[in-house]
Amino acid sequence: MELQPGSIQQARAERRIAATQSLLHQDRSAHVKTQVFDDVIEAAALLRRGGLVAFPTETVFGLGVDATNSAAIKRLFEAKGRPSDNPLIVHLAEVGDWQLVASELPEVAAKFLARFAPGPLTVVLPKKPIIASEVTAGLDTVGVRIPAYAVARKLIAATGLPIAAPSANLSGRPSGTTWQSVLEDLDGRIDGILRGDTSDIGIESTVVDCVSWPPCLLRPGAISLEDLRSIAPETVPLNGAVEAMVNSPGLRHAHYQPQARLHLIHHVHELEELWPEADRHTSQIECDWAKSAYCGLEEPSFVNELGACRVFSSSLHYARELYEFFRVVDRLGVRQIYCQMVPSEGIGSALNDRLVRAAKPT
Ligand code: TXA
Ligand code: MG
Repeated sequence: MELQPGSIQQARAERRIAATQSLLHQDRSAHVKTQVFDDVIEAAALLRRGGLVAFPTETVFGLGVDATNSAAIKRLFEAKGRPSDNPLIVHLAEVGDWQLVASELPEVAAKFLARFAPGPLTVVLPKKPIIASEVTAGLDTVGVRIPAYAVARKLIAATGLPIAAPSANLSGRPSGTTWQSVLEDLDGRIDGILRGDTSDIGIESTVVDCVSWPPCLLRPGAISLEDLRSIAPETVPLNGAVEAMVNSPGLRHAHYQPQARLHLIHHVHELEELWPEADRHTSQIECDWAKSAYCGLEEPSFVNELGACRVFSSSLHYARELYEFFRVVDRLGVRQIYCQMVPSEGIGSALNDRLVRAAKPT
């Protein structure tokens, strides 16, 4: 439906957009207990002292900690409310630093890193003893990533340490992709946040196990199975729930969830069938609609009656904005979100993976 300039619907839609915008950009920095930094050197000094410091990366914000400091790592698990059997990814400044944390670089891992690092890729390698066992949840392997954002690599280089970093959110909540969202979840629970750009990709890195043969895709991300197969055609996706639980403990746990109940749809007409046009004027229906949200690639015909609505121009755009949209709808008190699944090319299969997980009842 076209919104007529000056119409009541247009005014309502504009008010709703303004409310959403102000929720997105609320600046709570005046009241925070966690230190907010712009200076990489100050943030690095805090990490060296065993502090928990969030920092921007191109995928999502990470919550950094010295990967060799067991006491600090235990604090991190508590701060996030993270189950201790879920291992952390270790972040390095340069590809060549892998020798700090891994005992060996299998040939296939070297090829993946040569093509995709720095970037949204985590390779699982045999671990060196210097990495605290709390980081790897007792496994003899370690996930290694070299982030693309220069500020993240400058921070890591300034510490001179391998930095373990899960996504900077409370466990089970959507990952933080802006420093404000990190603060929303973790203010007072962590020591610092290095402010920086919003995460450009918006969903977590691709995780690929390079320890056993053939290499196995444990978690899809912006680098797709096809991308990995262009380097190593033998690469396999995870097969079945049992294998998934053994190889990627993180998959056992609830993930990426907004408070609102999430429903998956394939086409926008499924949404329109839920609230047939003839019923839409009844107050009950109006009330249900106002507590519902939609996001997807197609535009529904009556966006202005929804509690919140985002239409994305591509799957890349959808992935970038998804977690922030989840947070906005939670702040608005929306009860249910209808999310459109996307074609599984490129980042699409990773985006569908996150949508399916977010829709799983806990
Ligand atoms: O993009 C990302 O990967 C972000 C940024 C901050 O780098 N980090 C992130 O971390 O998403 P986290 O902790 O939320 O997810 C780590 C995932 C989990 O699914 C975990 O099971 C898997 O990586 N993982 C870590 N180490 C592993 C290992 N040694 N073997 C198998 N899976 C591992
Ligand atoms: Mg996470």
